[in-house]
Amino acid sequence: MQPRIPTMLVLGAMFVAGLSLSSASADGPKPCINANSEFAKVKAACAKGGQDEVKKMMKAVFDKEKAAGNDVKCNSCHENLKDYKLKPNGKADLKKYM
Ligand code: HEC
Repeated sequence: MQPRIPTMLVLGAMFVAGLSLSSASADGPKPCINANSEFAKVKAACAKGGQDEVKKMMKAVFDKEKAAGNDVKCNSCHENLKDYKLKPNGKADLKKYM
């Protein structure tokens, strides 16, 4: 029994290290694709907290639009909501709201 304890400690430590590594990368803010956006609000949000912060800002803008009866969806300007790649119309359209 005695010789097995160190092995278990090492395995346990590796497990904990692995867990904290993977959660660190999942929790950290994802940087913007274009941190130097021509939109001041996007640029400021990117600098503050990456894509997460822009997401919050965009939600606030388009929740207001929705309340005003203009239901604009994220994916009318973004190809997907994973990396937020912009559609060709995205910038011209956002200018109407910023
Ligand atoms: C009217 C068009 C439009 C809509 C609707 C829109 N976006 Fe955006 N979004 C943009 C533009 C334009 C940018 C800035 C792109 C640039 O300057 O490179 C942007 C940037 C972003 C970014 C940063 C992307 C990066 O990494 O550079 C995120 C995240 C984002 N939008 C999330 C959202 C979410 C979430 C929604 C829905 C609540 C949304 N957007 C709705 C046009 C739009």
